[in-house]
Amino acid sequence: TLVSEESMKQKNAAAPANAQMSDMELNGFMQLYERFVRSKGEKKAQLDWAKIQSPDDNMLKPYAELPSPSPEEEAALLNKLVVCKLNGGLGTSMGCKGPKSIIDVRSNATFLDLIVQQIETLNKENSGVDVPLVLMNSFNTADDTDKIIRKYKDAQVNVLTFNQSRYPRILTETLEPLPWTHSDYDAEDWYPPGHGDVYAALMNSGIVDKMLAEGKEYIFVSNVDNLGAVVDTKILKMMADCNSEYCMELTDKTRADIKGGTLINYEGKSSLLEVAQVPKEYVGEFKSIKKFKVFNTNNIWMSLSAIKRIMEKGMELDIIENGKEARGQKVIQLETAIGAGISYFSNACGANVPRSRFLPVKTTSDLLLIQSNLYTLNKGTLVMNPERMFSSTPAITLGPEFKKVAGYNARFGSIPDVIELDHLTVSGNVSFGKKVSLRGTVIIVCQEGSSIMIPDGAILENKVVTGSLAI
Ligand code: UTP
Repeated sequence: TLVSEESMKQKNAAAPANAQMSDMELNGFMQLYERFVRSKGEKKAQLDWAKIQSPDDNMLKPYAELPSPSPEEEAALLNKLVVCKLNGGLGTSMGCKGPKSIIDVRSNATFLDLIVQQIETLNKENSGVDVPLVLMNSFNTADDTDKIIRKYKDAQVNVLTFNQSRYPRILTETLEPLPWTHSDYDAEDWYPPGHGDVYAALMNSGIVDKMLAEGKEYIFVSNVDNLGAVVDTKILKMMADCNSEYCMELTDKTRADIKGGTLINYEGKSSLLEVAQVPKEYVGEFKSIKKFKVFNTNNIWMSLSAIKRIMEKGMELDIIENGKEARGQKVIQLETAIGAGISYFSNACGANVPRSRFLPVKTTSDLLLIQSNLYTLNKGTLVMNPERMFSSTPAITLGPEFKKVAGYNARFGSIPDVIELDHLTVSGNVSFGKKVSLRGTVIIVCQEGSSIMIPDGAILENKVVTGSLAI
């Protein structure tokens, strides 16, 4: 190890108060850091590609075949449930300040507003049920989130928060932790170490013990930007019936989904296979949809008592080395992912769920879909508009002028009708008037130096618009 635990403790104690880690944070960081430094000197144990098998129906349960619980069973299951949203991320990639969860998505309601509505509905419609909502914040989102959630104090849902760790970035060249190479505090020196931190953070914050003491047994964790991740009691029932401590929701891959991990049967156990673990010669096979048909949605159901048991022994998740730049230097941040924890749980399985349970908003193109008439809103839940003839959603690519939410908002008089849209590509200085209808394949390309304004009420059907507009 380059920097010993002892010297790390000394540097930590000597740092300005806002640049100090708690004992638990320091411990967690040291474990990750030492593992990382050690692995640099070793050859990584390679996965044996020949041993990888596709999961059978028992390991990857077809969602359509899961039975529904009876009403009494349902209430009993819901009473054991905690819902947790991963809320550590910022909206910076869409040009927003603050937590991503406070971006307006529908009729002035934010991700958080809709999630609170979803859970409040659950609590109101099932008598005696009281599902709490727990938000995992990072140091980037904690203050804003705590202010914002005050508005839910009268809602019929108990909203709790806890913080994940804040770890120091390390210099790529020397592997020295960045904060202590300077004498001042700078937020750039620090980072939240990925959603795999949820296990340690749930334990360290006391949330696991508190929830177990309140009689809770299951926790449903998902990305805060996935409005499709609504509570589903069929999955809960399946876990109870199969004595399963962990269930990952996976959905069918399309050619556009090359990023996510996939569920495999490795020596008889459910495991997550991520692209980073795949030997170079098999990456093509990994990305194809033939052999690996599903990918991880990051909707994860777990047993709280299992988390406690596992964390008391310790969990070593695969380290993701994320290269960045800070203070003008190359740095590395060591992260982990929640899905990698699957192999620690007994009877872990996957559920092959419909695409509607995976509606992430990473870009304004995703936002356009969520805001459009493709969906209607029912008590905080997005429901596909029955007028849509196909179950697939349109493929939308908006140019860089639309990348930030402010630019995107300025360029749409209102969100176009996309019920019959298959494919939309927009590039250049393009704006849309009110009540525009887009159908089939629409391509709008504006040359540099000019502009295209799609007028109010225009109907564009299988149309290519370039240079100047001719409808
Ligand atoms: P990501 O930034 O990892 O999004 O955040 P992604 O691009 O979809 O990547 P994967 O494939 O899901 O990993 C996913 C969710 O995790 C939260 C974010 O707020 C978001 O809801 N997150 C991420 C944290 O809470 N903490 C972290 O350290 C990282």
